[in-house]
Amino acid sequence: MTDLLDVSTHFRFGQNWADYSKLVDERRITDARESVESLCGDLTGKTFLDIGSGSGLFSVSALRLGAKEVVAVDIDEDSVATTRKLLTGEGRDNWRAERISVFELPDHVHDKFDVVYSWGVLHHTGAMWRAVETAASFVKPGGTFAISLYEKTPLCGFWKREKRFYSLLPKPAQVTIRIGYHAAWAAALLLTGHNPVRRWREGNERGMSIAHDAHDWLGGFPYESAAPAEVISFMKKLGFEHRQTVPYRIRLKGLFGSGCAEYVFHKPEEAVAKSAPKRRSRAKAG
Ligand SMILES: C[S@@+](CC[C@H](N)C(=O)[O-])C[C@H]1O[C@@H](n2cnc3c(N)ncnc32)[C@H](O)[C@@H]1O
Repeated sequence: MTDLLDVSTHFRFGQNWADYSKLVDERRITDARESVESLCGDLTGKTFLDIGSGSGLFSVSALRLGAKEVVAVDIDEDSVATTRKLLTGEGRDNWRAERISVFELPDHVHDKFDVVYSWGVLHHTGAMWRAVETAASFVKPGGTFAISLYEKTPLCGFWKREKRFYSLLPKPAQVTIRIGYHAAWAAALLLTGHNPVRRWREGNERGMSIAHDAHDWLGGFPYESAAPAEVISFMKKLGFEHRQTVPYRIRLKGLFGSGCAEYVFHKPEEAVAKSAPKRRSRAKAG
């Protein structure tokens, strides 16, 4: 039995987000906002739950897209502190950020949010499918569920072991592994006719930085992944309608990362009973 609230073996995501937050500027916020908008559409007047808020950049984006209320939650206290810092900078009061696991959210928030957004989170909980089902239960009938999950690749078994190992290493050893990883990444880009320096400067399309992404990728434990067909079929069984899948387009998939596929689902009015998970008093994996 694994205690899903015990983060002692988890990668310290929050430390990485605290460091990344020093880079957040208007360009990164604009990239993040465009990413949220492309999945969730117009948020004007909507309630928005950001599960696993990380840096808080996407909660900030939701506020800027006009959300009426933003609730950001994360299991890592450093992530929550960084989320609060970024949200405070917006000078608004229609948000809150709490240290709480997806598995601990109270019953009264079920069927509550117009939009539930959880990007790159549910595969790091130690019980991915249960986390997906639980997160989906917070969507209001008629609402939107936007998630992203690592795509299954032939190398997922290797990466799971690598992440467990990396996340236990002292910082200098992690830095050494990162240098090797970045060198291989730059070589692969050069060999395929791309400019690694430009890539490094530009970051990725969600406003992320390559350096922080690499640390997150190499250490992100617990780790699970899913094939898009599995995700769509799982959500349909919960009564959701599939609206959009954006597969992550990555060269040499699996070698430098599995890439996160994005999914958007719609919860029809009549899906309420189907999607409510059986509540347990304590979050334990069976
Ligand atoms: C890879 S980061 C993604 C952060 C953010 N959503 C983004 O797109 O940048 C994963 C985040 O999920 C959080 N997390 C992991 N397990 C969680 C759980 N059970 N409940 C809530 N948050 C969790 C981690 O602490 C971390 O901040």
